[in-house]
Amino acid sequence: MRYLPQISAVLLSLMAWGCTPKTETQNTADQPGFSLERAAQKPSTDTAVAPNPASTRIVLDQKGVGPVQEVTLVELNPPWAEQGKQLFEQKCHACHRADRKFIGPSLSGVLQRRNPVWVMNMILNPDQMVQKDPLAQELFMEFNGSPMTDLNLTEDQARTILEYFRTL
Ligand code: HEC
Repeated sequence: MRYLPQISAVLLSLMAWGCTPKTETQNTADQPGFSLERAAQKPSTDTAVAPNPASTRIVLDQKGVGPVQEVTLVELNPPWAEQGKQLFEQKCHACHRADRKFIGPSLSGVLQRRNPVWVMNMILNPDQMVQKDPLAQELFMEFNGSPMTDLNLTEDQARTILEYFRTL
């Protein structure tokens, strides 16, 4: 009688062996594939909790994909900035605030962390940016897959918004 608990434990584990799905998952722990899988998963877990998300990371060397190849910034043009502010409030406020994260990233200091060409392309060509530009893709993931709408702005309109961003 004294051995009964041990015997039933042995029986139970033998039964568990016979019961395939459960046993297989338990046993994969001993197979090399298992540790490989875990190793492969680890970085993505790390990115999710990374203290350096795309929205605050400084990436100034990327220009993105879209119609704009070059932007020259000279002295600030206040009338453009004012027009840009108004356009921003009309067109972008549904998802952005200048000073805080909303549905999209905060745009405060955006030109300190992004190339102006990249910003123009993000405004003018958000669909392809999210498909092809690694940084836009990362932002898209960070913002839970909310896509930025293409508002069909002209290049001049986007340029006034860029001027406004210089004041943020
Ligand atoms: C429907 C919501 C929505 C609208 C409208 C929208 N955006 Fe966005 N925007 C986003 C989201 C979400 C992201 C993050 C990338 C993504 O998920 O596609 C983003 C990203 C950006 C970025 C990159 C920010 C960074 O930190 O790198 C800029 C710049 C930007 N938007 C500017 C604008 C401007 C300017 C307008 C208006 C013309 C606008 N957006 C309209 C949702 C929106």
